[in-house]
Amino acid sequence: MANLIVTGGAGFIGANFVHYRSKVAPEDKIIVLDLLTYAGNKHNLDGLDDVLLVEGDICDTDLVSSIIADHEIDTIVHFAAESHVDRSITGPDAFVTTNVIGTHSLLKAAKKAWLDGDGKPHRFHHVSTDEVYGSLGPSDPAFSETTAYAPNSPYSASKAGSDHLVRAYHHTYGLETTTSNCSNNYGPFQFPEKLIPLFTLNALNGKALPIYGDGMNVRDWLHVEDHCRGIEACLRKGKSGEVYNIGGGQELPNLTVIEEICRAVDNAFAADPSLAKRFPNAPAAQGRPSAELKTFVTDRMGHDRRYAIDETKARSELGYAPARDFPQGFAETLAWFLSREDWWMPLLERAAITR
Ligand SMILES: NC(=O)c1ccc[n+]([C@@H]2O[C@H](COP(=O)([O-])OP(=O)(O)OC[C@H]3O[C@@H](n4cnc5c(N)ncnc54)[C@H](O)[C@@H]3O)[C@@H](O)[C@H]2O)c1
Repeated sequence: MANLIVTGGAGFIGANFVHYRSKVAPEDKIIVLDLLTYAGNKHNLDGLDDVLLVEGDICDTDLVSSIIADHEIDTIVHFAAESHVDRSITGPDAFVTTNVIGTHSLLKAAKKAWLDGDGKPHRFHHVSTDEVYGSLGPSDPAFSETTAYAPNSPYSASKAGSDHLVRAYHHTYGLETTTSNCSNNYGPFQFPEKLIPLFTLNALNGKALPIYGDGMNVRDWLHVEDHCRGIEACLRKGKSGEVYNIGGGQELPNLTVIEEICRAVDNAFAADPSLAKRFPNAPAAQGRPSAELKTFVTDRMGHDRRYAIDETKARSELGYAPARDFPQGFAETLAWFLSREDWWMPLLERAAITR
């Protein structure tokens, strides 16, 4: 049995992790620490009556210390971050504050509680991104855990800074840490500013699908539940001080992803005539292809061309393997979005799409 703080547990991946962990380890005590920024949503935790949500800032070291003491916390799983690259280009300050200073605040509180004094068994798991490794050419080998850091956006630079702090707290003070660097996630509860929920909802609502540049930027797509299994494997089997890359094994250009979204939406309307009544503005409601909504827009500044994950280490040391390919994972995701209009409808205005 463990007592966990899950930071950012009301966000996309954090909430999925809390649902997952509550299923696989129902005896755990889980405290979610989340500031409920535009990306946080307490409804992501609906149905989890035993989970305590503390609305607060990871930068508040005293608050973190008091949660650790009050709930005898032995594990921190750290998701809280500013996470959207486009927002980091227009407003980088929040990224440095939350991702760098916020992570350091957690590390300070964890060190004080777990190392200063008698010392207690503990684990600090830090969730990071493959974007810290920079951009790959078409035939470069995939990112491994020893690939040199070369972050290109304010987002990835701030995540890189947080990774280095976690490493330093392990190396200098002996804090028991693991870090996972994962690829692009998709699935339930993803805020509709990111590619997959944005394009899915735009296809349903008959809005343009704004494709950056030539649409040939490549990402490795990871279903969020596969990611949660990878994090769980890090917590159970990961060695302290180690880093694990977690991918979905689905390296795809954006255009292929978008075509799959359009195909799946068209098929869903063909199979279920009631969707045309619910989403009358969708081209698919009139029997036309969703692909007619594709619109090429000016590329993102500094847009990394390709990310790819070599997950050999996670496979061999943790027994991790993704369970879904992209068509299967997206079919599940589309079914979720079609069944949870109550969840996404109120978020559309908040998404303030930047494209
Ligand atoms: N989404 C992806 O594809 C992806 C890929 C690689 C890595 N990651 C990493 O995974 C983690 C989770 O990403 P996500 O997509 O779920 O993000 P998200 O933006 O959906 O959620 C972030 C959560 O953190 C909370 N938060 C923000 N600032 C906070 C603060 N100062 N104190 C407390 N809570 C705060 C927000 O309210 C929100 O609930 C992040 O660290 C991100 O860098 C995400």
